[in-house]
Amino acid sequence: MSKTYHVAVLVGSLRKASINRKLALALTQLAPPSLKLEIVEIGELPLYNEDIDVDPVPPAYSAFRAKLKNADALLFVTPEYNRSMPAPMKNAIDVGSRPYGQSAFGGKPGAVLSASPGAIGGFGANHHLRQSMVFLDVRMMQQPEAYLGGAGAFFDDAGVLGESIKPFLQKFIDAYAAWVAQHA
Ligand code: FNR
Repeated sequence: MSKTYHVAVLVGSLRKASINRKLALALTQLAPPSLKLEIVEIGELPLYNEDIDVDPVPPAYSAFRAKLKNADALLFVTPEYNRSMPAPMKNAIDVGSRPYGQSAFGGKPGAVLSASPGAIGGFGANHHLRQSMVFLDVRMMQQPEAYLGGAGAFFDDAGVLGESIKPFLQKFIDAYAAWVAQHA
């Protein structure tokens, strides 16, 4: 039987109507059977502080780290805030990277998709996130790059994904499935 890879999906926006969350959910639907995508929530993680990362470690930290460690691969779906990744996403990365020497990230395959109603498609967030992943030794997929501009038009009022962006999302998640199979 072929293997199923468990993918932890981190979404950089906390708002209910988030376009990026909708995109993450669309990717779970478009993913081939070899991938099982699950959004791991990051909104309740206390801001990272070494002073509280001691016994007893905040339960939210432990639960989050366990979910990352149990995953075979990582997928980041994020908006851009002020030309970088939103603070909750950076906080989640910081929490997952500690305690020193026990990072939950190291060696896993990953990919990032950024989306924005603006024209640049979250390029700055996408590459700042990639910068952290270099240090954390996450094997990030290079192609296809995913900076999705004009994202305000991707979903209709009922939340249904439009046909214009669907082929790219399919191409992205299929390439990611191949990447994960190669690097997990
Ligand atoms: C933004 N937005 C934004 N967009 C962009 O393309 N580049 C940017 O640097 C920023 N900066 C920024 C900062 C802050 C604090 C907010 C709240 C928003 C707009 C952003 O792309 C838009 O609100 C998206 O819809 C957010 O993504 P979600 O929540 O729809 O997934």
